Amino acid sequence: MNTELLMATAAKLFAADKGLLAMDESNPTCNKRFENLGIPQTVDYRRAYRELIITTPGLGECIGGVILYDETLSQQTQDGTPFLKVLADAGIIPGIKVDTGAKDMAAHPGEKITEGLDGLRDRLQIYFGMGARFAKWRAVFAIGEGIPSRSCIEANAEALARYAALCQEVGLVPIVEPEVLMDGEHTLERCRMVSQEVLRNVFIQLNCQRVLLEGMILKPNMVLPGLTCPTQESLDEVADNTMKNLWRTVPAAVPAIAFLSGGQSAELATARLNVMNHRFKSQLPWALTFSFARAIQQPALEIWRGELVHVKAAQQALLHRTRCNRAARRGQYTAAMEKA
Ligand code: 13P
Repeated sequence: MNTELLMATAAKLFAADKGLLAMDESNPTCNKRFENLGIPQTVDYRRAYRELIITTPGLGECIGGVILYDETLSQQTQDGTPFLKVLADAGIIPGIKVDTGAKDMAAHPGEKITEGLDGLRDRLQIYFGMGARFAKWRAVFAIGEGIPSRSCIEANAEALARYAALCQEVGLVPIVEPEVLMDGEHTLERCRMVSQEVLRNVFIQLNCQRVLLEGMILKPNMVLPGLTCPTQESLDEVADNTMKNLWRTVPAAVPAIAFLSGGQSAELATARLNVMNHRFKSQLPWALTFSFARAIQQPALEIWRGELVHVKAAQQALLHRTRCNRAARRGQYTAAMEKA
């Protein structure tokens, strides 16, 4: 294992208070987002949209790495420049989603198991050869009556750890993403308990599979009430409960925790990250940062709507969100920034 390369990559991704931009939506997920806005769901439109994102002037100011999807990794801009060159020129490290999706878990109604371990070692070598320096694998846990089950948590945690060990073997920093979903009426306290149980199991498995904690990144959910829960707690309560879980479960050797946004509004995701850094930054052993997809992209996607004339305005909106999130990473975000 090339420990030095792994640690150097992890450090570079988050240098100068940068964060990550997730743009690794699978084709079905990307198509669903396009469909909601009346954008044609074709490979050309997906390519044009990804070009819009990566050619945003100044993107590298606040973004240290982008997470790509297999289709995107080998694409080119309209003028024939490989996406990977555009990113390299902007000083942005390319990463790649390598799981093959969360599938229904046998004998576990309502639960998912993430697949993609078969043949993973070979795929990782190819991605490394193409220039990727980090990878991502996402496990999902729905909250409901009697779920998530112990078996779902353990099976997904083991898969995450096996994926992480394989990544480190080839020199890719693994992003370990156990996502407890926001869908449902559950309370914030239920989310906290489930998230704690999930994180405990994930780190047991990471240790069991001999994953180098200094050479990985954790990408968790924030601790939040369900989307349809009648009680929606304050920014401070979300921060307190999220921090309580992370302190209890994430070893100090992990260099960075980069949150997913999970369907929160863009501004709320930023405000919540900000409160955590504003109140606790000086006490944290890890960088506390962002790896948002929707909370960075959604405002830009809604402006673009598939039309060339809107590209510049969409890029401005994207850049604005990356700047707000870097400010949140520093604990210096204010609502006034949204009006600037
Ligand atoms: P969201 O920020 O939209 O939750 O996406 C993050 C991600 O990478 C999902 O796997």
